[in-house]
Formats: sequence, C-alpha cells, structure tokens
Amino acid sequence: MTPLLAACGITVRYGSLAALDGVDLRVDPGQRHALIGPNGAGKTTLLNVIAGATRPRTGRILLAGRDVTRRGPAARARRGIGRIHQRPAVWATLTVAENVEVAALPHAVRPGRWRPGGTRAAARRTADTLLARVGLADLAGRAAGQLAHGQRRQLEIAMALAGRPRLLLLDEPAAGLSATEVGRLVEFLRDLPRAVAVLLVEHRLDLVYALCDTVTVLRDGRPLAAGTPSEIRASAQVRQAYAEGVG
Ligand SMILES: Nc1ncnc2c1ncn2[C@@H]1O[C@H](COP(=O)(O)OP(=O)(O)OP(=O)(O)O)[C@@H](O)[C@H]1O
Ligand SMILES: [Mg+2]
Repeated sequence: MTPLLAACGITVRYGSLAALDGVDLRVDPGQRHALIGPNGAGKTTLLNVIAGATRPRTGRILLAGRDVTRRGPAARARRGIGRIHQRPAVWATLTVAENVEVAALPHAVRPGRWRPGGTRAAARRTADTLLARVGLADLAGRAAGQLAHGQRRQLEIAMALAGRPRLLLLDEPAAGLSATEVGRLVEFLRDLPRAVAVLLVEHRLDLVYALCDTVTVLRDGRPLAAGTPSEIRASAQVRQAYAEGVG
C-alpha cells in the first residue's frame, strides 16, 4: 500500500541543536498514529515539517506518493493536510461561523462553476454542518476571540475539517480542556470517518491508547520506538524516557 504520508530522513537544526535528526515516519490511509515523547523531543517541529511550515535541512515529505517537500503550507492543505496547533489559532475578530467559512471557501469552489454567491453559500452550509458536529452551533454568531479555550479548540477542529483533509495533524488537542471536554473530544475523534487519517501528538497516554493503533516515540529528535499501544506500553526504554521528563 502506498503510504498516505512518508517523511523520510528529516533533519531540522536550530543552531547547534538538532531538533530532528534523520527522522522517518509513515502514516497509512485511515490510520490513527500517535507521536509521543518528552518535552523538546521534536514533535511539534515534525508536524511543522509535514504541514510545510518548517523547511527541513534534509529529507523528503511524500503525500500519497507525491513529493511535496518544496510545496508551502497552502499547497499541502489543498492536497489534504489539515492541522490544529499546539496553541489554538483562530481569527479573533471574525465570528465563529466566518472562521469556518474562510477555511471552507477554497474547497467550495467547483472548477468551471465559480459564482461568488453560490460559493459563499456552499461554504456557509459546510460551516453550519461542521459547527453542529463540534457542538458550537449556538455560538456561530459570536466573535471567535470571545470563546473559552476548549471552544476555540473545537472551532479549530471544525476549521481543519472544512479543508476536507485526508490527514489531520493534531498537536496536543486535549491540553487545557476540562474532563467533560476531553470526553467529548475523544468521542468526536473516534467517530471521524476512516477517510481521514490522524497523526496525534499528545502527552496524555490514556488518550493515545484509547484512540490510536500505532505509536511512534520521539526523543531528542530521533525515533526511540514504534509499535502498537501494547508494545509501547510494555517498553522499558519508553518508560525510562518518560520518567526522565514529560510535562
Ligand atoms: N524556532 C525555534 N528556534 C530555536 N529552537 C527551536 C525552535 N523551535 C523548536 N526549537 C527547539 O527544538 C526542540 C524541539 O522542539 P519542539 O517544539 O518540536 O518539541 P516538542 O516535542 O513539541 O515539545 P513539547 O512537548 O514541549 O511541545 C526543542 O529543544 C526546542 O527548544
Ligand atoms: Mg510541541
């Protein structure tokens, strides 16, 4: 099977620090893949490289077999990469609905059939559907800057899904959420169609084990282990790495 995502030999340096040092990672279509590891291991950096926000010093990114290494974030989003950030990124002065509409607009245009009104209406319909799915329908007219942290997270997920991703990159989606919100998030991610593969960075191992079928452990910019949740849970090497620092 052609992997949906293949990151091959990725190296990123900041001065003398190797944030990533020759990392390989493969995500298959529909897979739920977790990326875990102590603080500073390089998890966010790897998501940035996959999304096109950080250019690696060496290595290649293949999306469904096509080399996108030289493509920027917008081109990769068009080819099916959606993401949510470690700190939620929304347009604070736009309404909740407008945030999702903006994210949906590029995908609402049907080739050869562009009509400004029709395109906007299609984006609005997408926004309505997605806001209902993430439980924000009642807040559609509110300015996004007024949302509480957990609601902002839900909004960012709706925005990412508006781009119809084949691969969803999630950077610590449960951070700062209440127990109820975490429960809702887990249910939501469990119900995502298998047409969407997920690469989840998460410190909460209970969520990782509940949601993912494959786990890759990074440490100091290098893959330390990879396997099923039970293999990773049993690994003394992984336990040692976590004992030395995770926050
Ligand atoms: N823009 C930058 N400039 C300099 N150093 C950076 C930059 N971004 C990341 N780093 C460093 O690269 C290393 C990897 O950082 P990264 O944010 O990818 O870690 P992480 O695994 O996501 O950690 P956390 O779990 O704390 O979010 C860290 O040592 C970090 O300080
Ligand atoms: Mg991070």
